[in-house]
Amino acid sequence: MKEIVVSGSRPTGNLHLGNYLGAVKQFVLMQEKHESYFFVADYHSLTTHPNPKDLHENVKTVLVEYLACGLDPNKTTLYLQSDIPEITELYLFFNMHAYLGELERVPTFKEKAKSQPDNMNAGLLTYPTLMAADILVHKGTHVPVGKDQEQHLEMCRNFARRFNHVYQQEVFPEPIPFNMGNELVKVPSLNGTGKMSKSDDENSCIFLKDSAEAIRKKVMRAVTDTGPTTPNETKPEAVENLFDLMKHVSTQDTVSSFEESYNNMTIRYGDMKKQLAEDMVNYLAPIREKIDAIANDNTYLRHVAEEGKEKARISARRTLDEVRNVIGFRNF
Ligand code: ADP
Ligand code: TRP
Repeated sequence: MKEIVVSGSRPTGNLHLGNYLGAVKQFVLMQEKHESYFFVADYHSLTTHPNPKDLHENVKTVLVEYLACGLDPNKTTLYLQSDIPEITELYLFFNMHAYLGELERVPTFKEKAKSQPDNMNAGLLTYPTLMAADILVHKGTHVPVGKDQEQHLEMCRNFARRFNHVYQQEVFPEPIPFNMGNELVKVPSLNGTGKMSKSDDENSCIFLKDSAEAIRKKVMRAVTDTGPTTPNETKPEAVENLFDLMKHVSTQDTVSSFEESYNNMTIRYGDMKKQLAEDMVNYLAPIREKIDAIANDNTYLRHVAEEGKEKARISARRTLDEVRNVIGFRNF
């Protein structure tokens, strides 16, 4: 079967290193060889009721930042979810075959029930069906995402399988979360525990647009411990996290040399952080420069979105024509 790559993310603010390393970087590599679609999931962000001005600005911000990361409109199809009516149409069909119990059991839904009990809207409940529609509207087979999205992809496979089963036709593939054949990535936070996330406190999350100064400040403040006291000690989570980050942005030699000094207990976390900060600054510099270069180029951004919309709708319409026919919506 042909590999079709689909991914997207919600426009909830600036992109961070976790977004880049977990999803966007994989996608950028895959756009070279595969038919691919990347979108700004602006409908998904409505679950939290953003005000119109913020929504509009955030959509622009992430579009700019995706382009700066290397998503190339000449190689991939880059568009806004809300420009593709076929996605909402497919969402409706999937909702008819999605059951309350399974939607209520999704861990992210249960978390929201705790964190925002006053806003448990139906959009939150049906988040996985909309996400399945995003992917399956192009018959996506591979979805570059971070580890936290595994459950949603599992649901997507269920909906695809169920649809095929109900209508007794192989309309949809069962898409898999994908990271170039490797484990899904989880970029750690600088606060010593858990994954990097924009809902962390400001200082624990490295944004792609952060200045060199801001990066240095955040990294130097990263949580560590007092250092190893016996040779080859198991690393505590916070220290392991710094090493993990280093593996993403530093050379293998640099990582090995700090591993060695950890193991023989001569490590100085201050030196390690300084090195990590410099490597991060250099790693992100080209992205930041590109963000600055295109951030105010509305003509270019409009052109990208228009072209993406046209291309995405061709593929989406093809799928929906087939789906409608299969369901029984046919001409007389
Ligand atoms: P956040 O957790 O900051 O709200 P999103 O939920 O918007 O980030 O995630 C957008 C994309 O980035 C998803 O594919 C998600 O899996 C990926 N992602 C987010 N944070 C990380 C992380 N720390 N490590 C790996 N991937 C991540
Ligand atoms: N749920 C994803 C996130 O929180 C965003 C998303 C929406 C998505 N639709 C998708 C990701 C389809 C991959 C494919 O980041």
